Amino acid sequence: MLPFALLTFCALIQGSLGDVKRDGQLRLSETDLLKELSDKVQGRLYAGLPYAQACWSSFNSSACESVKTNYLNETSRFDTFGGHINTQWETCQATGDQCLLDWEDPLDPAPTSSQSCQLGSISDHYIDVREPGDVAAAFDFSRKSGIPIVVKNTGHDYKGRGSAPGSVALWTHNLKNISYNPQFVPEGCVSPSPGVTMEAGVQWGEAYEFAEANNITLVGGLDKGVGTSGGWLMGGGHGALTNTMGMGVDRVLQFKVVTPDGKLRVANACQNEDLFFALRGGGGGTYGVVLESTVLASPPVTLQVYVVQWTKPNATLTSSLWSLLVENGLKWGEEGWGGFVNDVSAIYLSPNLDAVRANASMAPLIAFGEEIVERGIEGATLLVLQFPSWGAFFNTFAGDNSAAIGANLALASRLIPKANFQTAEDRSQLLSALLKAHDLTPGLRFLVSPPTSYPGDGSTSVTPAWRDSIYHITLISTWNWNATEVQKKEQYQLASRAISYLRDITPDAAYSNEADVYEPNHEVAFWGDNYDKLLQIKQKYDPEQLLDCWHCVGWNPNSRRFACYL
Ligand SMILES: Cc1cc2nc3c(=O)[nH]c(=O)nc-3n(C[C@H](O)[C@H](O)[C@H](O)COP(=O)(O)OP(=O)(O)OC[C@H]3O[C@@H](n4cnc5c(N)ncnc54)[C@H](O)[C@@H]3O)c2cc1C
Ligand SMILES: *[C@@H]1O[C@H](CO)[C@@H](O)[C@H](O)[C@H]1NC(C)=O
Ligand SMILES: *[C@@H]1O[C@H](CO)[C@@H](O)[C@H](O)[C@H]1NC(C)=O
Ligand SMILES: *[C@@H]1O[C@H](CO)[C@@H](O)[C@H](O)[C@H]1NC(C)=O
Ligand SMILES: *[C@@H]1O[C@H](CO)[C@@H](O)[C@H](O)[C@H]1NC(C)=O
Ligand SMILES: *[C@@H]1O[C@H](CO)[C@@H](O)[C@H](O)[C@H]1NC(C)=O
Ligand SMILES: *[C@@H]1O[C@H](CO)[C@@H](O)[C@H](O)[C@H]1NC(C)=O
Ligand SMILES: *[C@@H]1O[C@H](CO)[C@@H](O)[C@H](O)[C@H]1NC(C)=O
Repeated sequence: MLPFALLTFCALIQGSLGDVKRDGQLRLSETDLLKELSDKVQGRLYAGLPYAQACWSSFNSSACESVKTNYLNETSRFDTFGGHINTQWETCQATGDQCLLDWEDPLDPAPTSSQSCQLGSISDHYIDVREPGDVAAAFDFSRKSGIPIVVKNTGHDYKGRGSAPGSVALWTHNLKNISYNPQFVPEGCVSPSPGVTMEAGVQWGEAYEFAEANNITLVGGLDKGVGTSGGWLMGGGHGALTNTMGMGVDRVLQFKVVTPDGKLRVANACQNEDLFFALRGGGGGTYGVVLESTVLASPPVTLQVYVVQWTKPNATLTSSLWSLLVENGLKWGEEGWGGFVNDVSAIYLSPNLDAVRANASMAPLIAFGEEIVERGIEGATLLVLQFPSWGAFFNTFAGDNSAAIGANLALASRLIPKANFQTAEDRSQLLSALLKAHDLTPGLRFLVSPPTSYPGDGSTSVTPAWRDSIYHITLISTWNWNATEVQKKEQYQLASRAISYLRDITPDAAYSNEADVYEPNHEVAFWGDNYDKLLQIKQKYDPEQLLDCWHCVGWNPNSRRFACYL
């Protein structure tokens, strides 16, 4: 991290800070404004640097060795300001400016000999956020300078909303406090519930560890690195327990958030209720910068877990497995099962059935597992397991099921409603669409994680389609460091084309955080009939649009912060 003097120098050599002249008024120069900002944040303003920069100074240096070894390491990426999990968001896709290694072989020296290292869309500067005043100072700076600000937490965003060219970032990663109060009362409310308060930088791996130590259950996703209070929570984050225990937005009791007017506000069911509604599904990076959230803590759960897998991809087997899952999709959804499925495995878990009832419910999957083991299919395995807690399950299964790290990757997804499971014809149409999508993009997964049997309290702002859905289907396409602009576009189009097999047979509904970057009708797909209200609340709290992000509520597609998108 560079102190301010060097930082100014970097800004000059990068030469990419925006124009601050407005209306011919005498204004402080950018350098003066940055100096003022740096003072207000006690010097915690640093230059943004590309994750792999060390490799351009010397490919054999120890600093570059560490970049090469850790290029696909999630922890190393989220611990580094310039690191993003999907690396095209470190680049300027539109100009080709980047500083990427070859993710298929990080030891490959070709990128460093054929390209220069450029900042791409990584923010020119970032604030290591520690207190509300840091955020207020950044809003003030952006208002005076016209320079966009972005919020970067863990860098997991699939739609590039944690970076922007020529911006100043608020890095929330180092806000790590976490505490448990069995009698938490939201400020201004009266009734207590068990609550865990987490600062914005806390990540799910840390939260689950804390939950284990405190004999409680927290509902989060399957990746240790995703943040608990940022994009995940505000954008409709969910996990395998969501079917029975709700989405993140169902379980949040209170936010502390700095709004664009610089005020630290408490949002809960008893004050700033409109903001509370908006933060419960309206998306990250839109209404303010959340500094902490308090979420409901539940008693520990015993999990019945079923795993069926084999090693070698085989279209016949994939089709048989998926057919079985779709046939049982509605029943299992209504019984509370959660799970993860790809073309060679299915993992299902239940927190609410005992072993006998779980076995009865999963009989078709057990029979399938027994059959592939009996037939000697390579690597065929059937496991029937019990875990004493979510944390114990997570520690056993999460490592292998985490998504791709360090690649350039386009994702697309779809929520599949109950309607697609009603008749034999519906189910066969769904299976066929899934298989066709998989033919184009073999990384297709079923996340059995919508709140199918969890009605919610009617005051969240995600699309109501979530509660009517059985699966959240995701698929991906990738490209290498040296892809041309045309080749990158082709990969986004491939993801779009593959998901359109499902789009064609479902209403417009998708998980905003894992949607196609070019999702058609995105307002409806992410928010349904909540959109108009969300837009009004956006205009109330952020009238100058100091916050903005791709396909976010009230976004301005012409903003220069989106100059790097294709
Ligand atoms: C490997 C991987 C696994 C995943 N697994 C799951 C899963 O199991 N379940 C699931 O639901 N989702 C999952 N996701 C999706 C994930 O929830 C989103 O990528 C989410 O946007 C990440 O939020 P973040 O705060 O961690 O990351 P960031 O990329 O840092 O932030 C995401 C967005 O939120 C905004 N934001 C972040 N922090 C704040 C804040 N404090 N205040 C205001 N705005 C903020 C940012 O500006 C940005 O717009 C996964 C993603 C990846 C890459
Ligand atoms: C870097 O290391 C590789 C293998 O260890 C070696 O072949 C190469 O010559 C080295 N390059 C430089 C510039 O030292
Ligand atoms: C990943 O990076 C982290 C932090 O940089 C490090 O502690 C860890 O050992 C690395 N993991 C592996 C498998 O190398
Ligand atoms: C963490 O939060 C708890 C509960 O609010 C508080 O008592 C404690 O002082 C905080 N710790 C730090 C280091 O801020
Ligand atoms: C954990 O909590 C459960 C119920 O909330 C309780 O029955 C159990 O005794 C607790 N276990 C420990 C080790 O405290
Ligand atoms: C796929 O599995 C089927 C059995 O379901 C088997 O007959 C076939 O040979 C396998 N195909 C390949 C390519 O392994
Ligand atoms: C559930 O089924 C598995 C696999 O057939 C079996 O090993 C286990 O004993 C059964 N459990 C119960 C409680 O019936
Ligand atoms: C891209 O780079 C890889 C390895 O670095 C190389 O094999 C491939 O041929 C290159 N592709 C193009 C289109 O240049």
